Amino acid sequence: MKKRVLSGIRATGRLHLGNYFGAVKGMLELQEKTEYETLYMVVDLHTITTPYDKGMLKQSVRDVIIDYLACGLDPAKSTIFIQSMVPEHTELAFYFSSVVSIARMQHLPTFKDKVKQYPHHTTMALLNYPILMAADILIYKAGIVPVGVDQEPHIEVAREVARKMNSEYGTDFPEPQRFVTRGEYVPSLTGMGKMSKSVEGSYINLTDSDEEIEKKVRSIPTATAAGGEMNEGVKSLFALFKLTAPESEVARFEKEFHAGTLQFMNLKKAVSTAIYKELQPFQEKRRELAKNGKYIDKVITDGAEKAQKIAQMTIKEVKEKMGLA
Ligand code: TRP
Repeated sequence: MKKRVLSGIRATGRLHLGNYFGAVKGMLELQEKTEYETLYMVVDLHTITTPYDKGMLKQSVRDVIIDYLACGLDPAKSTIFIQSMVPEHTELAFYFSSVVSIARMQHLPTFKDKVKQYPHHTTMALLNYPILMAADILIYKAGIVPVGVDQEPHIEVAREVARKMNSEYGTDFPEPQRFVTRGEYVPSLTGMGKMSKSVEGSYINLTDSDEEIEKKVRSIPTATAAGGEMNEGVKSLFALFKLTAPESEVARFEKEFHAGTLQFMNLKKAVSTAIYKELQPFQEKRRELAKNGKYIDKVITDGAEKAQKIAQMTIKEVKEKMGLA
């Protein structure tokens, strides 16, 4: 049997460069390997664990599906679907919650961060976030998960759940591993932390125009003079450049930096050009896809149907082993 790969992205707006290099590139790489069966979803249920706009959610979910397709995810090779269309995920999450302690969830750094960010929205859904994610992965018995490094604590929870379920109920869940991509850490444009949809001014959307990209790159704070230690903004610039430009070009600018001759305007111009060049094919494909609503609908319904077939088998097995059926 083929090894299963599963990943998902939250539907909080369009995809940005952080999602692209941190997750989608890995998803694409694995899709092309015949030894893997790949399943990629949009996680709308996780989206509702923090405040969201109910009038926008459906369109945001669809936009991520279109972004996926424009990036090269191919429904002939991967199962592309929307999480809430396979309600078995939430069912399995409830079964899993019986082997996870409240304290374990409360102490997760990801939970604590969200509590700080939304002190008035510390809901049960938020506390259950990692359990639902474990269910997302394990319902397909997926052993490989291409996600960013910030998701490691959640993958660890999925491994713990797999072990507990296997020892208590004799299931055969694999212990999932994170698939590491080259660009797993994409820095924020602010020079602080990682690129994130929830931090204004930190990200470049895959659909941004060349002017928008140039403006955003220009806003990255740099030092007044080159040479010496690189500050955070300069590090971000070079990190973005490394992800999008040929090595020789990066080396040339690095040499100039260390020699103290680098003009930051020139580096910024080169970085924005490299980013735009990387995104151009995506943007063209996206414009074509957005015109073809019927095709998108079909991808969504077919994907859910394929995913649900597998999910139902796991639910049946778990219910039997837990004494529920
Ligand atoms: N928590 C993930 C993130 O924020 C999204 C996610 C939900 C996910 N379920 C998943 C990723 C299952 C991989 C597999 O990036």
